[in-house]
Amino acid sequence: MRRVLVAGGAGFIGSHLVDRLLARADIERIVVVDNLWTGLRSNLAHTSDYRLSIVQSDTETFQSDIMFDEIYNLASPASPPWYMKEPERTISANVLGTMRLLALLAKGGTFCFTSTSEVYGDPLITPQPESYRGSVDCTGPRSSYDESKRCTEALLFEKSRVQGTNVRVARLFNVYGPRTRPDDGRAVSNFITRALVGQPIVVYGDGRQSRSWGYIDDIVEGLARLFWLTPIDHRGPVNIGNDREISVLEIARYVASLIPGSTIIHVDPVPQDPTNRRPDLTVAHQLLKGWTCWVPYEEGVRRTLQWFRDQALNSAAHQLPQILQTSPNGVAEPIVSATATSMSLAGSHSR
Ligand SMILES: NC(=O)c1ccc[n+]([C@@H]2O[C@H](COP(=O)([O-])OP(=O)(O)OC[C@H]3O[C@@H](n4cnc5c(N)ncnc54)[C@H](O)[C@@H]3O)[C@@H](O)[C@H]2O)c1
Repeated sequence: MRRVLVAGGAGFIGSHLVDRLLARADIERIVVVDNLWTGLRSNLAHTSDYRLSIVQSDTETFQSDIMFDEIYNLASPASPPWYMKEPERTISANVLGTMRLLALLAKGGTFCFTSTSEVYGDPLITPQPESYRGSVDCTGPRSSYDESKRCTEALLFEKSRVQGTNVRVARLFNVYGPRTRPDDGRAVSNFITRALVGQPIVVYGDGRQSRSWGYIDDIVEGLARLFWLTPIDHRGPVNIGNDREISVLEIARYVASLIPGSTIIHVDPVPQDPTNRRPDLTVAHQLLKGWTCWVPYEEGVRRTLQWFRDQALNSAAHQLPQILQTSPNGVAEPIVSATATSMSLAGSHSR
């Protein structure tokens, strides 16, 4: 029976990954380590599985008496407003967090890491294959995230080369879906939450910058196949994402079409916002037989909107207008919600 650690398991993607892991019968214990920086305790509130324990801790300082057969490290903010606000903490979460967690990997265990398409920076080729070395500004405003992911990849592949550690690295492209924080700050959730509270949808620049929007269920299916379902003899990162490239403006217009009375405004472009993003999925399709992104963005956005509407029927919903503070230029800025800070340290070993 396997002992599993999921760092960042109270986050958006991490909590969905935990759901998938809990469906496995060969796991005796799953420990979620999460400091609730951007994650929410409520993301795991639906499960009462006795095998799951949640520890509120930074990964960098997490202590454990047991070693783990499988470690999934997702502990890092993924949204630019959050990581740009605390760059040092972001670098620490990725690099130092991974170094600490590697020390807890049992002999012969597997270490899995969610890297990002941001390692390609503002790409000069499209689509981006894993072999593309990227166009990243190591002194730019996004560098804490981009470079700490690149450094962590270096750390893991060097552990693999020098010590034979079994590592699997997914480079995720834009992921969206239920359990994104309302104040997350990324496009799909931002457009939906603002439109739901009657605020204009904010598009940075002309909105022609494109992204590849992967619905959470498809992405978690890809992660499950890469991380544990498929015997893989492959050294190197694997792109996981949707290769249908859609402009930010098209998404904004689609959200607006679903929420009567919505308006769209344009504000200044974000510095160094990548102009395009599209995964080359050749490697993923070779390794993960039959996997693809099945959910078209129209369906995924509708499901995400429905989830936010459902949230609006419970207490958290009434916080939406408060959570979305608006800065002078009309851009939603994240603040830490009461829910995020309410889990006490005394209750850190709770389920
Ligand atoms: N969502 C995307 O579009 C996307 C794209 C590319 C890569 N990724 C990667 O996937 C992972 C998960 O992303 P997400 O969208 O779920 O983000 P998220 O912010 O919802 O989840 C991250 C989780 O990690 C926790 N965390 C952060 N630093 C920590 C630390 N030092 N110690 C313990 N816990 C910590 C947060 O509290 C949160 O629960 C991240 O590593 C991110 O870089 C996400």
